[in-house]
Amino acid sequence: MSENNLLFVGTFASAKSLNDLSIFGGYLAVENGKITRIGSAKDYEAEQKTGAFANFKIIQLNEDQFVIPGFVDCHTHAPQFPNIGLGLDRPLLEWLAKYTFPLESRYGDTNFAAKVYDTVVKRLLNNGTTTTCYFGSLHLNGTLELAKSVAKHHQRALVGKVSMNLKNEAGYYNETAKELAEVETFIKNVLDMKNDLVQPVITPRFAVSCDKELMSGLADISDAYNCLIQSHISENQSEVEYVLQIFPQCKNYADIYDNSRILNNRCIMAHAIHLSDEEIKTLAEKGVSVAHCPASNTRLKSGLCPVRKYINNKLIVGLGTDVSGGDGSSILEAMRRTMDVSMHLELQGHEKASLSWTEAFYLATLGGAKALRLEEKIGSFEVGKEFDALVIDTYAQDGPIDKYEHSSAAIEDRATSLLEKFIYLGDDRNIAQVYVNGRKVKNITMK
Ligand code: GUN
Ligand code: FE
Repeated sequence: MSENNLLFVGTFASAKSLNDLSIFGGYLAVENGKITRIGSAKDYEAEQKTGAFANFKIIQLNEDQFVIPGFVDCHTHAPQFPNIGLGLDRPLLEWLAKYTFPLESRYGDTNFAAKVYDTVVKRLLNNGTTTTCYFGSLHLNGTLELAKSVAKHHQRALVGKVSMNLKNEAGYYNETAKELAEVETFIKNVLDMKNDLVQPVITPRFAVSCDKELMSGLADISDAYNCLIQSHISENQSEVEYVLQIFPQCKNYADIYDNSRILNNRCIMAHAIHLSDEEIKTLAEKGVSVAHCPASNTRLKSGLCPVRKYINNKLIVGLGTDVSGGDGSSILEAMRRTMDVSMHLELQGHEKASLSWTEAFYLATLGGAKALRLEEKIGSFEVGKEFDALVIDTYAQDGPIDKYEHSSAAIEDRATSLLEKFIYLGDDRNIAQVYVNGRKVKNITMK
């Protein structure tokens, strides 16, 4: 029996598209991190008799347990975790100056960085986030500590050293040539780790902090290394007004980034709340994806992001927690906030704006994988994909979901109800096991 060959027997749920939730009972085989076979319960019985699975460790789930793809967090700030739940009394630009830049400035201290980042990565894995797209800080060595923590705990991640070259009160920025050189060094260092789960991502903070020279230089590096690139766009009305003042030649916010050649099908933009129809069209045509961050958008009074409209206009959307603008680090919570914000839009008259729990589940898994251009590897259960998954124990001991007698419905209907309950009520206590690329990174003993 090999620990590299796992055979899960039970119920599996994954979203194949926004409108296609797939639930099936049967088995799923994992060999060396990859899904190699999926079959029905009947197939399992037949194949087992032939001894086909003799070399597999079997994980037999009970009828209250099921397996789903790991969650994808498309946008969070690792260095801001010490501020989570603090200082949410100001709008974006004041909040950045008063709370965020002073905290991020401390990550020149690599011991402090290593300590915080270890806690962050463990927290996210415990919450079922198997893939995260991180903003680090301005510091080269500090952010390399983040990449090391990710590798140490076997998470899948994109890690970005933040780039800024425009002055601010905290003195938290770099001179342009130094910044471009450090970004390149950062990329080389991450690539030298030769860890298939960890990739560098180029990270101009936003147009308030970066001029055109820096952003164009970063676009060149992104092209040279075929790296993803992430930033923030149109989060707050005052931010939008300010950037149009400092880039007077640009007709809108998206145009600022387009002028610097940042918008392409390797680009992820966080927030994107106040986009004009013209900007939506530009982002869709360029293949840019959007990280929707509902907790932060509400806490910082930024606005209600029209996700349904973006999906209808062919934008790729995933979910982000955006700590510490966001006050939660769990994608389960992000799903609920996504449903709430979309319903508030509908209640204000935006027709059919509300997103269902199955749609939120899609955005948290395959949608996020698409947004990070990882859909060929993760996000759903398909033969050939890597096995990033969560074993959910619906009625975990002392957990948030009480057990009531269900009618004896078909296994698929029953499993759909369990998943629905988990999405509305569940928390980390229900996430009994977490797997990344076939390796178990969290384990709570199940009944
Ligand atoms: N825009 C630029 N930087 C940030 C940040 O750290 N958090 C949020 N929410 N928005 C930003
Ligand atoms: Fe952010």
